[in-house]
Amino acid sequence: MFHTGIIVFIFLFLHFIDFYFIKIGLVAPPSGIAAHDFYGRTLRLFSSPWYSLLYVVSFVFLGIHLNHAMQSAFQTLGWNHSKYTDAVKFIGSAYSVFIALGFSLVPVYLYLFK
Ligand code: HEM
Repeated sequence: MFHTGIIVFIFLFLHFIDFYFIKIGLVAPPSGIAAHDFYGRTLRLFSSPWYSLLYVVSFVFLGIHLNHAMQSAFQTLGWNHSKYTDAVKFIGSAYSVFIALGFSLVPVYLYLFK
């Protein structure tokens, strides 16, 4: 969890440079893109195969991180009876795959079809 957490943290920092830091004026917008044109910025970012791949790989790590996090959260809450272990693992995995796949659809779709 520690390693995937660091990767998610690095992704978030990169993601802030891509959008949020531009919005609050910390980073200059790229030429031809207005500071609040997030759609234009998103299209520009995901026109690059490498950048799209970087986001998808980050989402895979986010999914792995969430998968462990869900199991830990259930344990922390005390819902860790052996009777429920399989269900907890299944729900955590399904949720993580849903999140990782859902977010990944954005760069994949924009790269392929826009
Ligand atoms: C392809 C997927 C994603 C796209 C296209 C996207 C796009 C954006 C955009 C346009 C903003 C700026 C919104 C604004 O400031 O008004 C933003 C902000 C932000 N994003 Fe994402 N995002 C994506 C995935 C993620 C993921 C997976 C996370 C968390 C792990 C995340 C966390 C954040 C945070 C914390 C902010 C700053 C807070 C905010 O402005 O609301 N994003 N994102």
